[in-house]
Amino acid sequence: MALSLRWKLAATYFVLIVLILGATNLFVVRVLERNYLRARETTHLANANIVATAGQDTLLKADRNAYYLIRDFGDRMGVRVLVLDPRGRVMLDSFAEGWLEGRVLRHEEVLAALAGTGTTGVHTLSTGERVLYAAVPVLRDKTVVAAVMLVADLDDLYAAVGQVRRQLFLASLASGLLAALLGLWLAGLLTRPVKELTGAVQRMARGQLEQRVPVRSGDELGRLADAFNAMSGRLAEVDRTRRRFLADASHELKSPLSSVKALAQALLDTDEPDPAVYREFLQDINTEIDRLARLVEDLLQLARLEEEGVPPPREPVDVTPLVHHVVALMRPRAEGGGVVLDVAVRSGLRWPVNPDLFTRILFNLLDNALRHTPAGGRVTVEALTDRKGEAGILRVADTGEGIPPEDLPRIFDRFYRVDRARARATGGTGLGLAIVRRAVEHHGGTINVTSRPGEGTTFEIAFPFNKTVTTFHTGETSGPYT
Ligand SMILES: Nc1ncnc2c1ncn2[C@@H]1O[C@H](COP(=O)(O)OP(=O)(O)OP(=O)(O)O)[C@@H](O)[C@H]1O
Ligand SMILES: [Mg+2]
Repeated sequence: MALSLRWKLAATYFVLIVLILGATNLFVVRVLERNYLRARETTHLANANIVATAGQDTLLKADRNAYYLIRDFGDRMGVRVLVLDPRGRVMLDSFAEGWLEGRVLRHEEVLAALAGTGTTGVHTLSTGERVLYAAVPVLRDKTVVAAVMLVADLDDLYAAVGQVRRQLFLASLASGLLAALLGLWLAGLLTRPVKELTGAVQRMARGQLEQRVPVRSGDELGRLADAFNAMSGRLAEVDRTRRRFLADASHELKSPLSSVKALAQALLDTDEPDPAVYREFLQDINTEIDRLARLVEDLLQLARLEEEGVPPPREPVDVTPLVHHVVALMRPRAEGGGVVLDVAVRSGLRWPVNPDLFTRILFNLLDNALRHTPAGGRVTVEALTDRKGEAGILRVADTGEGIPPEDLPRIFDRFYRVDRARARATGGTGLGLAIVRRAVEHHGGTINVTSRPGEGTTFEIAFPFNKTVTTFHTGETSGPYT
């Protein structure tokens, strides 16, 4: 299994802290060691000089007194004192180890001292222990007559440095672990929303579209959770709409189909020889088939309008003939129903519209107005440019039955009819205004409806002239109303 984000973060914290502290410690220990060593060098060089000057006369004799002198010095300073003659031969040794006396030492420090300069140096003995050599010349009348060399043990110094190093190492390790724990906690905070989101996305992938994750912060992750919730809500809504649409469409298709089926069955079952009866039945069947065809056509139209991809083209067209064409189509129906159909359209109105959609919008509005206006009423069609000259206004007003306020927000929903039972008789399917809304949205336009029950209804559509098209919310709710 892949390492989780949480552990990766924690491990990174740990490695980073340990590396940084490790490097710092190394540096600190180095500086400490150097400073300690420098202090020792100064001290022992000074001590060697004290021996060389204070004991000058005694030392040169190299007798018992000289030995006592350097042994005394050495004891007090905690060092071994050697006195060498100008050729580097050991004359006296404060440790009185016979093997060394008489030997010639050729260490750098000895050679330097015999040449006149006091120096120090650190040496590692064959036993592994480290010592400091400090050698200075013994001068008489400005000539080197001997050299004094101190051999100082550095074990305590390195032990102290080692202890500091160990403590720093432990402190670094502890800090690293602490940082790792902190990282684990912090990463937990950070990855929790990610985990929740992952879970929600997985459930969504399995088909449970309605998911909510808690928004825990205002940072990027919080905003992601927010966006996710919005997306999930929208998807669920779209899914619900789609299901409802399918159910509604099937239902709407089913009733004319059952009618056709019943009529045909009745026709088959009858022994009636009279062709007039057959004719009557066939006429009914024909009407139902017309209704079916219209329904299917409306559904197709709606589907095309909702389809994404290349939208139907719009160009500046003279809408006046379009209006007159639709009105001419409707006039016989208006006259048949005893309704006055008024048209108030100036000529030469060039609006950026799609002619087919424009015709369809007007046709559907007029169809509704005539259907809901009783005899003696009046239906008015107006087309004009708005006061600011920014949009074309198409207005269809009637003096019909009106729409109850509580139904107003829903009339643009697919299959929505104010009075279902009566709508069946008048033949509407509730797709007309849904198509109008899509077609208007396609033009970036807006729809306003004003209606008073018993007094009449006015639909007003604005087709904006500028090219920018406002994208609409295309859910089940309707456009703006007044
Ligand atoms: N001018 C109007 N006066 C009164 N009610 C209206 C008017 N226009 C629409 N409505 C109401 O709004 C409902 C929805 O209208 P829509 O055009 O979408 O459907 P329809 O006319 O019933 O059916 P279709 O247009 O598909 O044949 C109508 O059923 C009707 O109740
Ligand atoms: Mg209609």
